[in-house]
Amino acid sequence: MTLEFSPKRIIVTGGAGFIGSNFVHWVVQNEPDVQVTVLDKLTYAGNRANLEGIPEDRLTFVEGDICDAVLVDSLFADADAVVHFAAESHNDNSIADPSSFVRTNVEGTYTLLEAARKNGVRFHHVSTDEVYGDLALDDPTRFTEETPYHPSSPYSSTKAASDLLVRAWHRTYGLPITISNCSNNYGPRQHVEKFIPRQITNILSGLRPKLYGDGLNVRDWIHVDDHSSAVWTILTKGRLGETYLIGANGEKSNLEVLREILVAMGKEPDDFDWVKDRPGHDRRYAIDATKLMTELGWAPEHTDFVTGLHDVIGWYRDNEPWWRVDKTEIEANYAKAEH
Ligand code: NAD
Ligand code: DAU
Repeated sequence: MTLEFSPKRIIVTGGAGFIGSNFVHWVVQNEPDVQVTVLDKLTYAGNRANLEGIPEDRLTFVEGDICDAVLVDSLFADADAVVHFAAESHNDNSIADPSSFVRTNVEGTYTLLEAARKNGVRFHHVSTDEVYGDLALDDPTRFTEETPYHPSSPYSSTKAASDLLVRAWHRTYGLPITISNCSNNYGPRQHVEKFIPRQITNILSGLRPKLYGDGLNVRDWIHVDDHSSAVWTILTKGRLGETYLIGANGEKSNLEVLREILVAMGKEPDDFDWVKDRPGHDRRYAIDATKLMTELGWAPEHTDFVTGLHDVIGWYRDNEPWWRVDKTEIEANYAKAEH
């Protein structure tokens, strides 16, 4: 029987990014006794504005690199736990140039693990279902914690490497760790490079949405707030050394999702362009979250995808200055790759 862990001072790496910032908002709203320190390099994907509205007495923001061992060590001296979201996160970027992925995702995770070991800090590692590779469209199985690692892209292989480092630090040094591997998130504040925000902001910009390949690739969508509640559950109730998969039975083809967006935004369902496929494009992801649900009692709350998608479309309509600054450059990069 594992006793519940009650951290009071947590470090959130990557807390100015999409999922990290939603997690920080979730913790501040739901856990009144917890102080949060965000460590974020503010790369193109990080935005200080993502943390607006959080009371100053609940949050300390540190702009810095997770590869900076001196900085990381000084922060960890005063923390109970780290929740590690910081990463280079976009597959297409990793195909164009993998270097920052190896540095941040592998060397950065190593740097954090060493600081955690030195300072006795509990470590929750946020990872992805992509470490398991992909499934065929007609495969009746889904990923479980027992599925062998088989990553496809530079991004997912660096995430797999980081997971293995975390496991090794537990087995070799006894570092108190947990790992979660989650499926595709959607929600507010997701960068315009990603699939759902790109299509919504294309339509809002008078551009046609872009679908890769045959559009039949399947992703298993989960609302970002459900990812946050799952991570908190694993951090506070999970068994040390264990991996938990996070998912909400949200499998949909990219074509289905795109048509939902088009219809919701008053367009014709075929009002989009087919574009060049992603090299090595994973066909299907699907998560079996039975372990998390039965062992730790977690369940997703935002299970109506269409309602969630309407809310997200509303968020991008209402927050044009937030995404407009990045849009032109992102589309120019996609055009170069014929995406
Ligand atoms: P994101 O790209 O939106 O945010 C990443 C954040 O990390 C940014 O704020 C960025 O500034 C920061 N960062 C990058 N390099 C850094 C460095 N060297 N030092 C400090 N900060 C740095 O990513 P996201 O989509 O929010 O993903 C967050 C985490 O969740 C990642 O670890 C990703 O692998 C994982 N994940 C994402 C999804 C998804 O659907 N997006 C699903 C499962 C797991
Ligand atoms: O599964 C979890 C992973 O989900 C996370 O680990 C990654 O950080 C996150 O980026 C996401 O990876 P994907 O590659 O699945 O997400 P992306 O938004 O890039 O693409 C989703 C699907 O949509 C994928 O099959 C490619 C396709 N796509 C993407 C874009 C940007 C398009 O068809 N058109 C597009 O314009």
